[in-house]
Amino acid sequence: MMKTSLAQTALDNLVDEATKAAENSYSPYSGFKVGAALRLYDGIVVTGTNVENVSFGLTICAERAALVRAVSQFGPRIRIEAVAVVNLNNAASPPCGACRQMLAEFASPDTPIIFPAAAGTRTMSLEEILPLGFDMKLK
Ligand code: THU
Repeated sequence: MMKTSLAQTALDNLVDEATKAAENSYSPYSGFKVGAALRLYDGIVVTGTNVENVSFGLTICAERAALVRAVSQFGPRIRIEAVAVVNLNNAASPPCGACRQMLAEFASPDTPIIFPAAAGTRTMSLEEILPLGFDMKLK
């Protein structure tokens, strides 16, 4: 488990908010209800859920739904301090590759990502789950 400088209560609250968002999931095709909560640096929490479509490939994941909502509400300068993902299906669900890449745009390599794993809830840094994300310049 990685260490984060955020208080445990803040992280627990983020998981609670993600759980509430998962209850709004529109997932009639998979039945897989996902919620994501992003904590921004000013303490604001923005949530999202997965929204499926009969044209399956159009489905948007909970994490990206939360991200586009955060930018839409608070603008292009947002920075993400922590992310929580939950599902109501009692299954492991780390963010998918597309969501990792999208989160990387507004987060830092050491941003904690909390997600359900086989052995319970795990916290890993963005860099750990996305070791070689795409960028246009050398870092
Ligand atoms: N899903 C997410 O919301 N986040 C992920 O990171 C992976 C998958 C959703 C998409 C789809 O509605 C359902 O989970 C099953 O793939």
